[in-house]
Amino acid sequence: MKPLRVIQWGTGNVGIEALQAIVESPRLELAGLRVYSPDKVGRDAGALLGREPVGLTATDSEAEILALDADCVCYTPLMHDVDVLVELLRSGKNVVTTSGLIYPQALGGRVFERLNEACLEGGTSFHGTGLNPGWIAEVLPLVSSGMCRSIRRIHSLEVCDVSDYGSKEMFLGFMKYGQPPEAFENDRTTVERLGDVFKESIAMIAAAMDLEVTDVRHEREFVLAERDTESAVGTIAKGTIAGQRHRFSGWVDGRSVIEVETRWKVVRDDLGEGMPEDGECTWTITVEGDPSIRNVVSLAETFDPESPDRELYSSQRGMVSIAMHALNAVPAVCAAEPGVRTFLDLPIVAGSVARCPA
Ligand SMILES: NC(=O)c1ccc[n+]([C@@H]2O[C@H](COP(=O)([O-])OP(=O)(O)OC[C@H]3O[C@@H](n4cnc5c(N)ncnc54)[C@H](OP(=O)(O)O)[C@@H]3O)[C@@H](O)[C@H]2O)c1
Repeated sequence: MKPLRVIQWGTGNVGIEALQAIVESPRLELAGLRVYSPDKVGRDAGALLGREPVGLTATDSEAEILALDADCVCYTPLMHDVDVLVELLRSGKNVVTTSGLIYPQALGGRVFERLNEACLEGGTSFHGTGLNPGWIAEVLPLVSSGMCRSIRRIHSLEVCDVSDYGSKEMFLGFMKYGQPPEAFENDRTTVERLGDVFKESIAMIAAAMDLEVTDVRHEREFVLAERDTESAVGTIAKGTIAGQRHRFSGWVDGRSVIEVETRWKVVRDDLGEGMPEDGECTWTITVEGDPSIRNVVSLAETFDPESPDRELYSSQRGMVSIAMHALNAVPAVCAAEPGVRTFLDLPIVAGSVARCPA
């Protein structure tokens, strides 16, 4: 089979893992590379990966990328830009993204309609994916719910020490770690964008289960650093945000039925009960019903009991999984009928472009 030509858009924590996979997969071919950082412009994709040149240089020109011939764009910038996505889709390129938009039907501002219209115009498809959201908060609960005779409550919980996840823009700029809680509360973009992320997950579950969600509530709590502490994003000063708990609940018939909860910390300090242990990253997906089902998920270097790296976790494992959930969807997204294609429209996303080394 001819490899699918993929443009990688962004080389942050997720994007760089995607770039490596595109370069390595026999089922994909790197067709272009969009970067933002001036020091990455003009550099060979191989050099950005710390390996031999691959003969393709990174550009910050959107016009250049739009003019390329490619099957798909793997779009992983910090924040999505619907105008850019519309242009890409119109130009005849399918798009997979980890930058939100898992179920854009849930968003206002004609986001879904604009993306869908662009797909129809360009004969292309669009798919939003990820780990959480994009698997934990909605895909795993939904496939679990298929085993139930009755369902009272769906709950997903992420408990993660992200102290080695070095995205300053995400944690300091967007999530306001290292700042007082008022900085979070006073930034409407942060509050609304984060709300949108999990509003989409709740809406996707509701759509799949034919439930009417009348309200989505967001409760949050901040845990402050008790001392100045170093983390991958810099110093988190005493008295500023070191940990966050968020709980999004979708209300159906006057009670909370679909719940997404996250607990994160960016420092290697004990932040008290219920907060991640040092190095911990686990996800627990519970469907309360008949029967009640629980999945506990962890990512690791390996679960091989013989390996010295057994059960070792780093946030890089998460980055690989997020990037691969997007890339493994590329064949199905390229083959899909034009339009926004969520998990409810696509076949199961399996390891279709993953390598199986001997
Ligand atoms: N659903 C999930 O499970 C999940 C989990 C983690 C992340 N994500 C999402 O995936 C996306 C990438 O995350 P990440 O961890 O890779 O982020 P990151 O490490 O902070 O990378 C940021 C990316 O944004 C680019 N960038 C720099 N300035 C920008 C600007 N002005 N406008 C737009 N982009 C700019 C960077 O460019 P360069 O290429 O030049 O470095 C880089 O590609 C984010 O949207 C994040 O929310 C999803």
